[in-house]
Amino acid sequence: MPSFAVETPGRRYPILVERGSLAKLRDYIPARAGKVFVVTTEDVWRLYGGLLKKEIAQSPHEILFFPGGEARKRLAEVEALAEQMMEKGGDRSSVVVAVGGGILTDVAGFLAAIFMRGIPVIQIPTTLLAQVDAAIGGKTGVNLVAGKNLIGSFHQPLAVLIDPAVLDSLPEREYRAGLFEIIKHGVIADPDLFWLMRREPGRVLSHSPEVVDRMICDSVRLKADVVSGDEKEEDRRRILNFGHTFGHALEAETGYAQFLHGEAVAWGMKAAAALGEMERVLPREDREEIVECVNSYGPFPTVSGIDPRRLAARLKSDKKTLKGRIHFVLPERIGAVRITADVDERFVLKAIEDALAC
Ligand SMILES: NC(=O)c1ccc[n+]([C@@H]2O[C@H](COP(=O)([O-])OP(=O)(O)OC[C@H]3O[C@@H](n4cnc5c(N)ncnc54)[C@H](O)[C@@H]3O)[C@@H](O)[C@H]2O)c1
Repeated sequence: MPSFAVETPGRRYPILVERGSLAKLRDYIPARAGKVFVVTTEDVWRLYGGLLKKEIAQSPHEILFFPGGEARKRLAEVEALAEQMMEKGGDRSSVVVAVGGGILTDVAGFLAAIFMRGIPVIQIPTTLLAQVDAAIGGKTGVNLVAGKNLIGSFHQPLAVLIDPAVLDSLPEREYRAGLFEIIKHGVIADPDLFWLMRREPGRVLSHSPEVVDRMICDSVRLKADVVSGDEKEEDRRRILNFGHTFGHALEAETGYAQFLHGEAVAWGMKAAAALGEMERVLPREDREEIVECVNSYGPFPTVSGIDPRRLAARLKSDKKTLKGRIHFVLPERIGAVRITADVDERFVLKAIEDALAC
């Protein structure tokens, strides 16, 4: 299976997508590295620790555990991990190996970004969402009470190792949550990928290896290409936020406890599509296709009792809001989006109401 590359001004690194790639970790640990700090969660280590231990056996190493969960994706946890690294002999020659879902790869990536002003990290994402999105592109960070990912850093990894086979142990709801980021990639820039998701839910949901590998490869290719062209999200990388502005508001409003990140993005894509149609940017048929495609990968947590006005107010605290102006990524058709801050505020509330109803 293929290897992809991200090329930014500061670094070029490979993304290996291959069944069995976990067993190649030792090839990616620099020969002159000091202590290897594996940062992971206990559930993931129980499943894959045996295999990975063999890969790091010849290097001095320590295993550090992060408790997991969006509520623990906080600066205090990063500090606690850094203290453990100091107690266990970490220094500037140390390397972090991040093994887990997107929360873990964000937290461990940020730890590597700031420990001794930055040490290398190898990312080993083990959820579908982290494999197709979170672990690629060097965005790392943690949440504030005020909102998601409000403290962070761009820190590109040494390499990303993706093994689609690890998804077989993923809980079904977590697998479906990752599918929504793949639908996002289809809508923003890859119509073939969108139509695969739209027409083949049976094969997608049954983990057909051929389909899983293709979904991952197409997503990785797209994300690597976008990040290589715009590492710091000054321009084209912003298209990856399709569905996220609305989705982050929903996650925050429900206390990060009700919706998985991917599920919130799913709802956010429906809201953005509704807004696109109201703004006469997106044809009605395309909006219906997006909504149908998203809904075919439900069920979703209930949205009853959620106040649309509170969601609308929360959009203002998203980090993509600049000088009080909210920037929206609106689809124009399947495979193309535009970024605009110029929308009618009444439509925003109406789009939220519509999306809560479908
Ligand atoms: N940095 C980025 O560019 C970026 C992009 C998208 C999302 N994110 C972030 O990703 C996070 C969501 O990540 P997620 O959806 O992967 O959730 P997650 O990290 O919570 O992982 C889901 C659960 O599955 C478990 N798990 C992981 N791999 C497993 C496996 N192979 N088998 C069994 N269980 C496994 C995890 O321990 C966890 O309990 C959010 O915080 C979001 O902000 C970041």
